Amino acid sequence: MKSLVVYYSRTGITRTVSQYVAEALCADVEELIDTKNRKGPLGFVLAGKDAALKKLVPIEPPKTNPAEYDLVILASPVWANTMSSAIRAYLTKHGKEIRAAALLSTTHTSGIAESQRDMRALLGCEVIAAAGFRQKSVKRGEHIAALDAFIGNCKASSPAEQA
Ligand SMILES: Cc1cc2nc3c(=O)[nH]c(=O)nc-3n(C[C@H](O)[C@H](O)[C@H](O)COP(=O)(O)O)c2cc1C
Repeated sequence: MKSLVVYYSRTGITRTVSQYVAEALCADVEELIDTKNRKGPLGFVLAGKDAALKKLVPIEPPKTNPAEYDLVILASPVWANTMSSAIRAYLTKHGKEIRAAALLSTTHTSGIAESQRDMRALLGCEVIAAAGFRQKSVKRGEHIAALDAFIGNCKASSPAEQA
């Protein structure tokens, strides 16, 4: 199974989750770079505003082609009850090129279902696995069992595995 993990992370939580999955699936990794400055309190407020308005922000051009992969895992922090702006920009441009997807979200407390509903709407394919984690659980390492189950679902449900 040829897999790609595409993620955006502002403060490292989604990166931690994404790197674990990439290692377990021997996947290639695409870290999305939001060209807007998201640092500090002002960056936080503007990020929330961009996400709430569902703005398409410029991201650096991806280095990988999602159409070349059996499975693309998309990982985003929840921003304003939806996906981060960089993931929205990526999915708006490339969502319909993805052949099979799996979704990962990280959050402070809530918004996983809403965020993943919005991500699904930008895809033209089946979502074979989905999971979401609170940042507190990730920091404490309490998410690992559920993340391993997600990885197991990716392996079991991949169209390439069933072929
Ligand atoms: C702009 C912004 C908006 C956010 N909105 C929400 C939200 O609506 N609900 C929530 O529970 N957490 C929210 N969070 C918290 C993040 O989802 C959470 O801290 C996430 O794990 C951060 O991931 P990262 O370290 O990969 O950037 C928000 C964070 C940012 C920066």
